[in-house]
Amino acid sequence: MSKIGILGSAAVGQALARGFKQHGHEVRIGSRTPAKLAEFSASAGIAAGTFAEVASWAEVLVLAVKGTVAEDALRAAGAASLRGKLVIDTTNPIAEAPPVDGVLAFFTGPNDSLMERLQAAYPEARFVKAFSSVGNALMVNPKLEGGPPTMFYCGNDAAAKAAVRSILETFGWEPADMGTAVAARAIEPLCQLWCIPGFRENTWRHAFRLLR
Ligand SMILES: NC(=O)c1ccc[n+]([C@@H]2O[C@H](COP(=O)([O-])OP(=O)(O)OC[C@H]3O[C@@H](n4cnc5c(N)ncnc54)[C@H](OP(=O)(O)O)[C@@H]3O)[C@@H](O)[C@H]2O)c1
Repeated sequence: MSKIGILGSAAVGQALARGFKQHGHEVRIGSRTPAKLAEFSASAGIAAGTFAEVASWAEVLVLAVKGTVAEDALRAAGAASLRGKLVIDTTNPIAEAPPVDGVLAFFTGPNDSLMERLQAAYPEARFVKAFSSVGNALMVNPKLEGGPPTMFYCGNDAAAKAAVRSILETFGWEPADMGTAVAARAIEPLCQLWCIPGFRENTWRHAFRLLR
C-alpha cells in the first residue's frame, strides 16, 4: 500500500482516486480550490488538499491536470515534493483549438512530447506516462468484450516503470513498456486516435490492444 497523491480534481483525478482507493491504497486528491471537492470527498472517503499539501504528503503522485497547465500544477506542487517520486503522467498536450474532423489539436509537435518537457523541467522526479490513451471511465478495471486492453507506458526510470506496470496489472490492464520518456511522442497522440470515434460517432467505450 502506498500514499497516492492525485494532482487534479476533474474526471481523471476522481476516477483514479477512487480506483487507487478501491485497490487498497491511501489516497488524497489535490486542487487549487480543495473546497470544491467537498461532495466528492464525502462520497469517496478521500481527503482533498491543495496541490502543495497533497504532493508533500504523497509517496507516489498522479498528474491529472489540463495539459496546457501541467507545468503550473507541478510548480504549485513544489519541486521539493516531486524530488525522487514516481509521477504517473496521465496528461495530454491538447491545444485550445477545436478538433478538426474529430482530430484534436496538440500544442506539441511530432518530435516532442509533454512528458519530455515535464521530465526536463523536473529532472529529479521520475515520470512515467500511463492512462493517457483511454477515457477515464475505462481507466480502472476495464471490462470490454475483446478482453483486457493494452496500456502503453514509458519513462526513464526502471524502478518507477516496474511500479506502474504492477499498478496497471492490478487495475486490469495488459501493460506494454514502450521504453524511455521519448516514447511519449508516440503514446500521447494515441489520445487523438482514441477520441476520433468519440467525436465522429459518439462512441467512447473502446481501448487499444497490442496483438503479437
Ligand atoms: N478526460 C479523460 O477521460 C482523459 C483521458 C485520458 C487522459 N486525459 C488527460 O488527463 C488530464 C486531466 O483530464 P480531465 O478531463 O480530468 O481534466 P481537465 O479538465 O483536463 O483538467 C482539470 C484539472 O486541471 C487543473 N487546472 C486547470 N487550470 C489550471 C491552472 N491554471 N493551474 C493549475 N491547474 C489547473 C484543474 O485544477 P483545479 O482543481 O484547481 O480546478 C483540474 O484539477 C488532461 O491532461 C487530459 O488530456 C483525460
